[in-house]
Amino acid sequence: MTGAAEALVSIPDGALVIDGDRITYCGPFDDVEAGDWEVGGFEVFDHRPGFLLPGFVDTHVHFPQTFAGDAYGGGQLLEWLDACIFPSETLLADPSFAATAAVAFCDRRIAAGTTQAMVFGSAFPHAQDALFAETWRRGLRVVSGRGVQTTGPDSAQALVTSEGDALRLVSEEIEKWHAADTGDVGTALLHVAVVPRFSLSVTRETLKNLGELYDSVRDRGVYFHSHLNENDRPGSGEVATTKDAYQVDTYLDTYDGKFMPGSAVGGKSLLGRRSILAHAVHCQDTELARMAETGTSISHCPTSQQFLGSGTMPWKRTVAAGVNIAIGSDYGGGDEFLLTRVLGDAFKVHMSEAGEDAVSLHPAELLFTGTLAGARALDMEDRIGNFDVGKEADFVVVDPAEWPPLAGLLEHGVQSEDPELARDQTLFRLLMAMREPSITEVYVQGRRLH
Ligand code: GUN
Ligand code: ZN
Repeated sequence: MTGAAEALVSIPDGALVIDGDRITYCGPFDDVEAGDWEVGGFEVFDHRPGFLLPGFVDTHVHFPQTFAGDAYGGGQLLEWLDACIFPSETLLADPSFAATAAVAFCDRRIAAGTTQAMVFGSAFPHAQDALFAETWRRGLRVVSGRGVQTTGPDSAQALVTSEGDALRLVSEEIEKWHAADTGDVGTALLHVAVVPRFSLSVTRETLKNLGELYDSVRDRGVYFHSHLNENDRPGSGEVATTKDAYQVDTYLDTYDGKFMPGSAVGGKSLLGRRSILAHAVHCQDTELARMAETGTSISHCPTSQQFLGSGTMPWKRTVAAGVNIAIGSDYGGGDEFLLTRVLGDAFKVHMSEAGEDAVSLHPAELLFTGTLAGARALDMEDRIGNFDVGKEADFVVVDPAEWPPLAGLLEHGVQSEDPELARDQTLFRLLMAMREPSITEVYVQGRRLH
Protein backbone atom coordinates (compact mmCIF):
# COMPACT_ATOMS: atom_id res chain seq x y z
CA MET A 1 0.00 0.00 0.00
CA THR A 2 2.93 2.35 0.54
CA GLY A 3 4.72 1.16 -2.62
CA ALA A 4 7.55 -0.14 -0.46
CA ALA A 5 7.54 -3.61 -2.02
CA GLU A 6 8.08 -2.19 -5.50
CA ALA A 7 10.80 0.14 -4.22
CA LEU A 8 12.77 -2.51 -2.30
CA VAL A 9 16.32 -2.98 -3.53
CA SER A 10 18.31 -6.00 -2.43
CA ILE A 11 21.86 -6.51 -3.60
CA PRO A 12 23.02 -10.01 -2.65
CA ASP A 13 26.77 -9.34 -3.03
CA GLY A 14 26.70 -5.61 -2.61
CA ALA A 15 29.08 -2.81 -1.82
CA LEU A 16 28.41 0.42 0.00
CA VAL A 17 31.08 2.99 -0.74
CA ILE A 18 31.50 5.84 1.73
CA ASP A 19 33.56 8.95 1.15
CA GLY A 20 33.73 11.08 4.26
CA ASP A 21 30.20 11.23 5.64
CA ARG A 22 28.40 10.39 2.38
CA ILE A 23 27.38 7.40 0.31
CA THR A 24 29.08 7.56 -3.08
CA TYR A 25 28.08 4.15 -4.39
CA CYS A 26 25.61 1.41 -3.56
CA GLY A 27 25.43 -1.54 -5.91
CA PRO A 28 26.97 -4.86 -6.88
CA PHE A 29 30.45 -5.36 -5.48
CA ASP A 30 31.73 -6.55 -8.84
CA ASP A 31 30.84 -3.23 -10.42
CA VAL A 32 32.78 -1.15 -7.95
CA GLU A 33 35.96 -1.09 -10.03
CA ALA A 34 34.00 0.04 -13.05
CA GLY A 35 33.29 3.35 -11.34
CA ASP A 36 35.33 6.50 -11.38
CA TRP A 37 37.25 5.27 -8.39
CA GLU A 38 39.00 2.05 -7.56
CA VAL A 39 38.73 -0.39 -4.70
CA GLY A 40 42.47 0.01 -4.26
CA GLY A 41 42.00 3.56 -3.09
CA PHE A 42 39.58 2.54 -0.35
CA GLU A 43 39.78 0.49 2.79
CA VAL A 44 37.55 -2.54 2.22
CA PHE A 45 35.50 -4.10 5.04
CA ASP A 46 34.18 -7.54 4.20
CA HIS A 47 30.96 -8.27 6.09
CA ARG A 48 29.92 -11.38 4.17
CA PRO A 49 27.67 -13.23 4.87
CA GLY A 50 26.16 -10.39 6.89
CA PHE A 51 23.71 -7.66 5.91
CA LEU A 52 23.89 -3.89 5.71
CA LEU A 53 20.65 -2.06 6.52
CA PRO A 54 19.93 1.65 6.84
CA GLY A 55 20.12 2.91 10.44
CA PHE A 56 16.80 2.66 12.25
CA VAL A 57 14.75 5.77 13.03
CA ASP A 58 12.73 5.71 16.26
CA THR A 59 10.12 8.46 16.02
CA HIS A 60 8.93 8.19 19.62
CA VAL A 61 11.03 7.16 22.62
CA HIS A 62 11.12 8.58 26.16
CA PHE A 63 14.58 9.43 27.52
CA PRO A 64 13.43 9.90 31.17
CA GLN A 65 11.86 6.42 31.04
CA THR A 66 15.19 4.69 30.33
CA PHE A 67 14.84 2.85 33.62
CA ALA A 68 11.01 2.78 33.67
CA GLY A 69 10.34 0.01 31.18
CA ASP A 70 8.53 -3.14 32.28
CA ALA A 71 6.93 -1.32 35.21
CA TYR A 72 4.34 -3.57 36.85
CA GLY A 73 1.20 -2.44 38.61
CA GLY A 74 0.20 0.62 36.59
CA GLY A 75 -2.69 -0.64 34.50
CA GLN A 76 -3.61 1.46 31.46
CA LEU A 77 -2.31 4.86 30.40
CA LEU A 78 -3.55 7.45 32.90
CA GLU A 79 -3.15 5.17 35.92
CA TRP A 80 0.25 3.98 34.66
CA LEU A 81 1.48 7.58 34.28
CA ASP A 82 0.38 8.34 37.82
CA ALA A 83 1.64 5.17 39.49
CA CYS A 84 4.79 4.35 37.50
CA ILE A 85 5.92 7.09 35.15
CA PHE A 86 5.67 10.41 36.94
CA PRO A 87 7.57 8.99 39.96
CA SER A 88 10.22 7.47 37.64
CA GLU A 89 10.71 10.70 35.69
CA THR A 90 11.00 12.64 38.96
CA LEU A 91 14.21 10.72 39.72
CA LEU A 92 15.96 12.72 36.99
CA ALA A 93 15.79 15.76 39.28
CA ASP A 94 19.10 14.38 40.55
CA PRO A 95 21.77 15.47 38.03
CA SER A 96 23.95 12.42 38.58
CA PHE A 97 21.00 10.09 37.99
CA ALA A 98 20.14 12.07 34.85
CA ALA A 99 23.73 11.68 33.61
CA THR A 100 23.57 7.93 34.23
CA ALA A 101 20.29 7.75 32.32
CA ALA A 102 21.78 9.68 29.39
CA VAL A 103 24.67 7.21 29.10
CA ALA A 104 22.36 4.20 29.36
CA PHE A 105 19.92 5.69 26.85
CA CYS A 106 22.68 6.21 24.27
CA ASP A 107 24.06 2.72 24.99
CA ARG A 108 20.67 1.18 24.29
CA ARG A 109 20.19 3.19 21.11
CA ILE A 110 23.58 2.16 19.74
CA ALA A 111 23.04 -1.49 20.68
CA ALA A 112 19.74 -1.39 18.78
CA GLY A 113 21.14 0.46 15.75
CA THR A 114 18.79 3.41 16.27
CA THR A 115 20.86 6.04 14.53
CA GLN A 116 18.20 8.77 14.61
CA ALA A 117 15.37 9.35 17.10
CA MET A 118 12.65 11.78 18.11
CA VAL A 119 13.25 11.69 21.83
CA PHE A 120 10.59 12.75 24.29
CA GLY A 121 12.65 14.66 26.82
CA SER A 122 12.86 15.13 30.55
CA ALA A 123 11.20 18.05 32.32
CA PHE A 124 14.59 18.96 33.82
CA PRO A 125 16.92 21.18 31.78
CA HIS A 126 20.04 19.61 33.33
CA ALA A 127 18.80 16.19 32.16
CA GLN A 128 18.26 17.52 28.64
CA ASP A 129 21.77 19.00 28.73
CA ALA A 130 23.09 15.55 29.70
CA LEU A 131 21.11 13.92 26.86
CA PHE A 132 22.32 16.32 24.17
CA ALA A 133 25.91 16.31 25.41
CA GLU A 134 26.11 12.51 25.62
CA THR A 135 24.41 12.08 22.23
CA TRP A 136 26.94 14.46 20.69
CA ARG A 137 29.86 12.72 22.40
CA ARG A 138 28.71 9.35 21.08
CA GLY A 139 28.15 10.62 17.52
CA LEU A 140 24.42 9.81 17.45
CA ARG A 141 21.65 11.92 15.98
CA VAL A 142 18.78 13.23 18.07
CA VAL A 143 15.72 15.46 17.94
CA SER A 144 14.50 16.18 21.47
CA GLY A 145 12.77 18.68 23.69
CA ARG A 146 11.93 18.89 27.36
CA GLY A 147 8.54 17.42 28.22
CA VAL A 148 6.37 20.42 29.11
CA GLN A 149 3.86 20.08 31.94
CA THR A 150 2.00 23.00 33.47
CA THR A 151 -0.65 20.95 35.24
CA GLY A 152 -0.96 17.42 36.59
CA PRO A 153 -1.69 15.14 39.54
CA ASP A 154 0.31 15.15 42.77
CA SER A 155 2.66 12.47 41.44
CA ALA A 156 3.73 14.85 38.64
CA GLN A 157 4.33 17.95 40.75
CA ALA A 158 8.12 17.88 40.38
CA LEU A 159 7.67 17.89 36.59
CA VAL A 160 5.23 20.81 36.51
CA THR A 161 6.38 24.40 36.02
CA SER A 162 4.68 27.77 35.85
CA GLU A 163 3.48 29.05 32.46
CA GLY A 164 6.35 31.52 32.33
CA ASP A 165 9.01 28.95 33.13
CA ALA A 166 7.57 26.49 30.61
CA LEU A 167 7.94 29.02 27.81
CA ARG A 168 11.32 30.26 28.95
CA LEU A 169 12.82 26.78 29.32
CA VAL A 170 11.69 25.68 25.84
CA SER A 171 13.13 28.86 24.30
CA GLU A 172 16.41 28.38 26.17
CA GLU A 173 16.66 24.78 25.02
CA ILE A 174 16.21 25.84 21.40
CA GLU A 175 18.85 28.54 21.68
CA LYS A 176 21.27 26.21 23.46
CA TRP A 177 20.95 22.96 21.54
CA HIS A 178 19.24 23.39 18.16
CA ALA A 179 21.99 22.63 15.62
CA ALA A 180 24.54 23.23 18.38
CA ASP A 181 27.02 20.78 16.86
CA THR A 182 27.47 22.42 13.44
CA GLY A 183 25.54 25.69 13.64
CA ASP A 184 23.60 24.63 10.53
CA VAL A 185 20.30 22.69 10.74
CA GLY A 186 21.03 21.11 7.36
CA THR A 187 24.16 19.35 8.62
CA ALA A 188 23.52 19.10 12.38
CA LEU A 189 23.09 15.87 14.33
CA LEU A 190 21.32 17.69 17.18
CA HIS A 191 17.88 19.27 16.81
CA VAL A 192 15.28 20.55 19.26
CA ALA A 193 11.53 19.96 19.43
CA VAL A 194 8.69 21.70 21.26
CA VAL A 195 7.14 18.90 23.35
CA PRO A 196 4.04 19.38 25.49
CA ARG A 197 3.61 15.98 27.19
CA PHE A 198 -0.02 15.75 26.00
CA SER A 199 -2.98 18.07 26.15
CA LEU A 200 -3.96 16.86 29.63
CA SER A 201 -0.54 17.93 30.99
CA VAL A 202 -0.85 21.53 29.84
CA THR A 203 -3.37 24.38 29.85
CA ARG A 204 -4.93 26.42 27.08
CA GLU A 205 -2.49 29.16 27.99
CA THR A 206 0.45 26.79 27.48
CA LEU A 207 -0.87 25.66 24.10
CA LYS A 208 -1.32 29.29 23.07
CA ASN A 209 2.18 30.24 24.22
CA LEU A 210 3.83 27.21 22.63
CA GLY A 211 1.91 27.84 19.40
CA GLU A 212 3.30 31.35 19.20
CA LEU A 213 6.77 30.20 20.08
CA TYR A 214 6.64 27.38 17.54
CA ASP A 215 5.41 29.72 14.85
CA SER A 216 8.41 31.95 15.45
CA VAL A 217 10.94 29.07 15.15
CA ARG A 218 9.33 26.87 12.48
CA ASP A 219 11.55 28.25 9.74
CA ARG A 220 14.62 27.37 11.80
CA GLY A 221 13.75 23.67 11.46
CA VAL A 222 12.46 23.18 15.01
CA TYR A 223 10.14 20.21 15.55
CA PHE A 224 6.85 19.59 17.36
CA HIS A 225 6.11 16.35 19.17
CA SER A 226 3.39 14.98 21.46
CA HIS A 227 0.86 12.15 22.02
CA LEU A 228 -2.54 11.82 20.33
CA ASN A 229 -5.58 9.54 20.75
CA GLU A 230 -3.76 6.78 22.59
CA ASN A 231 -6.19 5.37 25.15
CA ASP A 232 -10.00 5.29 25.15
CA ARG A 233 -10.67 3.12 28.17
CA PRO A 234 -14.34 3.58 29.14
CA GLY A 235 -14.72 5.89 32.11
CA SER A 236 -11.10 6.96 32.51
CA GLY A 237 -9.72 7.12 28.99
CA GLU A 238 -7.32 9.78 27.78
CA VAL A 239 -9.32 10.60 24.63
CA ALA A 240 -12.66 11.31 26.33
CA THR A 241 -10.96 13.06 29.25
CA THR A 242 -9.12 15.37 26.86
CA LYS A 243 -12.19 16.21 24.77
CA ASP A 244 -14.14 16.79 27.95
CA ALA A 245 -11.47 19.00 29.54
CA TYR A 246 -11.10 21.17 26.43
CA GLN A 247 -14.70 20.87 25.19
CA VAL A 248 -13.42 20.23 21.66
CA ASP A 249 -14.73 18.14 18.79
CA THR A 250 -11.49 16.27 18.28
CA TYR A 251 -8.33 15.67 20.31
CA LEU A 252 -6.24 16.90 17.37
CA ASP A 253 -7.94 20.31 17.56
CA THR A 254 -6.06 20.99 20.80
CA TYR A 255 -2.74 20.87 18.87
CA ASP A 256 -4.20 22.67 15.87
CA GLY A 257 -4.83 26.02 17.58
CA LYS A 258 -8.50 25.13 18.10
CA PHE A 259 -8.35 24.49 21.82
CA MET A 260 -11.22 26.77 22.90
CA PRO A 261 -14.72 25.38 23.69
CA GLY A 262 -16.49 24.16 20.57
CA SER A 263 -13.06 23.87 18.89
CA ALA A 264 -12.93 27.61 18.41
CA VAL A 265 -9.56 29.01 17.40
CA GLY A 266 -7.51 30.21 20.35
CA GLY A 267 -4.01 30.27 18.96
CA LYS A 268 -1.60 29.03 16.31
CA SER A 269 -1.38 25.46 15.02
CA LEU A 270 1.45 23.17 16.07
CA LEU A 271 0.95 20.84 13.10
CA GLY A 272 3.20 20.65 10.06
CA ARG A 273 5.87 18.72 8.19
CA ARG A 274 8.17 18.55 11.23
CA SER A 275 5.38 17.55 13.61
CA ILE A 276 5.06 13.97 14.87
CA LEU A 277 2.18 12.67 16.97
CA ALA A 278 2.55 9.34 18.75
CA HIS A 279 -0.11 6.61 18.68
CA ALA A 280 -3.18 7.93 16.78
CA VAL A 281 -5.03 4.74 17.71
CA HIS A 282 -8.51 6.25 18.03
CA CYS A 283 -8.64 8.96 15.36
CA GLN A 284 -11.69 10.34 13.64
CA ASP A 285 -11.53 10.60 9.85
CA THR A 286 -11.27 14.38 10.08
CA GLU A 287 -8.18 14.07 12.28
CA LEU A 288 -6.44 11.72 9.85
CA ALA A 289 -7.32 14.04 6.96
CA ARG A 290 -5.98 17.07 8.83
CA MET A 291 -2.72 15.31 9.63
CA ALA A 292 -2.33 14.32 5.99
CA GLU A 293 -3.15 17.84 4.84
CA THR A 294 -0.61 19.48 7.16
CA GLY A 295 2.15 16.90 6.58
CA THR A 296 2.03 15.84 10.23
CA SER A 297 3.31 12.27 10.74
CA ILE A 298 2.13 9.49 13.03
CA SER A 299 4.56 7.56 15.18
CA HIS A 300 3.01 4.11 15.38
CA CYS A 301 3.92 2.33 18.63
CA PRO A 302 2.43 -1.19 18.61
CA THR A 303 4.61 -2.60 21.39
CA SER A 304 3.51 0.12 23.79
CA GLN A 305 -0.08 -0.14 22.63
CA GLN A 306 -0.10 -3.77 23.69
CA PHE A 307 1.68 -3.13 26.98
CA LEU A 308 -0.78 -0.39 27.96
CA GLY A 309 -3.87 -1.99 26.45
CA SER A 310 -4.39 0.96 24.12
CA GLY A 311 -5.69 -0.99 21.13
CA THR A 312 -4.25 -0.88 17.62
CA MET A 313 -3.82 1.92 15.15
CA PRO A 314 -6.01 0.74 12.23
CA TRP A 315 -3.38 0.15 9.56
CA LYS A 316 -5.40 0.13 6.32
CA ARG A 317 -7.57 3.07 7.27
CA THR A 318 -4.64 5.18 8.43
CA VAL A 319 -2.59 4.44 5.31
CA ALA A 320 -5.61 5.15 3.13
CA ALA A 321 -5.92 8.60 4.73
CA GLY A 322 -2.52 9.45 3.27
CA VAL A 323 -0.73 10.15 6.56
CA ASN A 324 2.94 9.25 6.81
CA ILE A 325 3.35 6.43 9.35
CA ALA A 326 6.71 5.82 10.99
CA ILE A 327 7.60 3.50 13.87
CA GLY A 328 8.12 4.34 17.53
CA SER A 329 9.33 2.17 20.38
CA ASP A 330 7.68 4.45 22.98
CA TYR A 331 10.11 3.00 25.52
CA GLY A 332 9.13 2.77 28.55
CA GLY A 333 5.46 2.38 27.48
CA GLY A 334 6.94 -0.13 25.07
CA ASP A 335 9.53 -2.53 26.43
CA GLU A 336 11.78 -2.89 23.36
CA PHE A 337 14.39 -0.47 22.08
CA LEU A 338 15.11 -2.68 19.08
CA LEU A 339 12.86 -1.34 16.33
CA THR A 340 12.77 -4.61 14.41
CA ARG A 341 11.05 -6.09 17.47
CA VAL A 342 8.55 -3.22 17.37
CA LEU A 343 8.06 -3.81 13.63
CA GLY A 344 7.52 -7.48 14.45
CA ASP A 345 4.75 -6.43 16.83
CA ALA A 346 3.29 -4.26 14.05
CA PHE A 347 3.21 -7.33 11.82
CA LYS A 348 1.42 -9.37 14.47
CA VAL A 349 -1.17 -6.80 15.55
CA HIS A 350 -2.14 -5.88 11.98
CA MET A 351 -2.35 -9.53 10.98
CA SER A 352 -4.79 -9.81 13.90
CA GLU A 353 -7.05 -6.88 13.03
CA ALA A 354 -10.70 -7.85 12.64
CA GLY A 355 -12.16 -9.18 9.40
CA GLU A 356 -11.21 -7.31 6.24
CA ASP A 357 -8.94 -5.00 8.21
CA ALA A 358 -6.41 -7.80 8.77
CA VAL A 359 -3.29 -7.26 6.71
CA SER A 360 -0.04 -9.14 6.21
CA LEU A 361 2.53 -6.35 6.05
CA HIS A 362 5.19 -6.87 3.40
CA PRO A 363 8.73 -7.06 4.80
CA ALA A 364 9.69 -4.09 2.62
CA GLU A 365 6.89 -2.12 4.25
CA LEU A 366 8.24 -3.04 7.67
CA LEU A 367 11.75 -1.97 6.68
CA PHE A 368 10.43 1.27 5.15
CA THR A 369 8.40 2.08 8.28
CA GLY A 370 11.50 1.64 10.46
CA THR A 371 13.84 3.69 8.28
CA LEU A 372 12.79 5.96 5.39
CA ALA A 373 9.33 6.74 6.80
CA GLY A 374 11.06 7.95 9.97
CA ALA A 375 13.41 10.11 7.93
CA ARG A 376 10.35 11.51 6.14
CA ALA A 377 8.58 12.19 9.46
CA LEU A 378 11.63 14.18 10.49
CA ASP A 379 11.78 16.01 7.16
CA MET A 380 15.22 14.48 6.63
CA GLU A 381 14.51 12.26 3.66
CA ASP A 382 17.20 14.06 1.69
CA ARG A 383 19.81 13.18 4.33
CA ILE A 384 19.07 9.71 5.73
CA GLY A 385 16.75 6.68 5.54
CA ASN A 386 18.20 4.59 2.72
CA PHE A 387 21.35 4.07 0.64
CA ASP A 388 20.74 6.60 -2.13
CA VAL A 389 24.00 8.08 -3.41
CA GLY A 390 24.62 11.45 -1.80
CA LYS A 391 22.89 10.65 1.47
CA GLU A 392 24.72 10.61 4.79
CA ALA A 393 26.04 7.14 5.59
CA ASP A 394 23.94 5.85 8.50
CA PHE A 395 23.84 2.07 8.55
CA VAL A 396 24.04 -1.06 10.66
CA VAL A 397 25.91 -4.30 10.05
CA VAL A 398 23.98 -7.42 10.96
CA ASP A 399 26.01 -10.59 11.47
CA PRO A 400 23.71 -13.61 11.86
CA ALA A 401 26.55 -15.66 13.36
CA GLU A 402 26.29 -13.50 16.48
CA TRP A 403 22.67 -14.61 17.00
CA PRO A 404 22.42 -18.32 16.22
CA PRO A 405 18.59 -18.44 16.10
CA LEU A 406 18.73 -15.97 13.20
CA ALA A 407 21.59 -17.82 11.52
CA GLY A 408 19.63 -21.06 11.79
CA LEU A 409 16.52 -19.62 10.18
CA LEU A 410 18.49 -18.09 7.33
CA GLU A 411 20.47 -21.26 6.72
CA HIS A 412 17.80 -23.92 7.12
CA GLY A 413 14.45 -22.21 6.54
CA VAL A 414 12.59 -23.29 3.41
CA GLN A 415 13.18 -20.81 0.59
CA SER A 416 10.94 -20.28 -2.41
CA GLU A 417 12.12 -21.15 -5.91
CA ASP A 418 10.84 -17.74 -6.96
CA PRO A 419 13.75 -15.29 -6.48
CA GLU A 420 11.53 -12.37 -5.49
CA LEU A 421 9.65 -14.35 -2.87
CA ALA A 422 12.92 -15.83 -1.62
CA ARG A 423 14.30 -12.31 -1.21
CA ASP A 424 11.21 -11.27 0.75
CA GLN A 425 11.44 -14.39 2.93
CA THR A 426 15.05 -13.59 3.76
CA LEU A 427 14.25 -9.97 4.64
CA PHE A 428 11.28 -11.04 6.76
CA ARG A 429 13.33 -13.56 8.71
CA LEU A 430 16.10 -11.03 9.15
CA LEU A 431 13.76 -8.37 10.54
CA MET A 432 11.72 -10.71 12.72
CA ALA A 433 14.56 -12.79 14.17
CA MET A 434 17.45 -10.37 14.60
CA ARG A 435 18.32 -9.32 18.13
CA GLU A 436 20.80 -6.78 19.54
CA PRO A 437 23.80 -9.18 19.58
CA SER A 438 23.53 -9.58 15.82
CA ILE A 439 23.98 -5.81 15.28
CA THR A 440 27.75 -5.81 15.30
CA GLU A 441 28.51 -2.34 13.92
CA VAL A 442 26.60 0.95 13.82
CA TYR A 443 27.56 3.98 11.70
CA VAL A 444 26.35 7.59 11.59
CA GLN A 445 27.71 9.88 8.86
CA GLY A 446 30.24 7.18 8.00
CA ARG A 447 31.67 7.10 11.54
CA ARG A 448 31.48 3.93 13.60
CA LEU A 449 29.81 4.38 16.99
CA HIS A 450 30.85 2.72 20.22
N1 GUN B 1 0.86 10.21 27.24
C1 GUN B 1 1.35 11.18 28.05
N2 GUN B 1 2.54 10.83 28.56
C2 GUN B 1 2.81 9.61 28.06
C3 GUN B 1 3.91 8.72 28.21
O1 GUN B 1 4.88 8.97 28.91
N3 GUN B 1 3.84 7.55 27.54
C4 GUN B 1 2.78 7.23 26.74
N4 GUN B 1 2.78 6.07 26.11
N5 GUN B 1 1.74 8.04 26.58
C5 GUN B 1 1.75 9.22 27.24
ZN1 ZN C 1 4.98 8.04 24.57
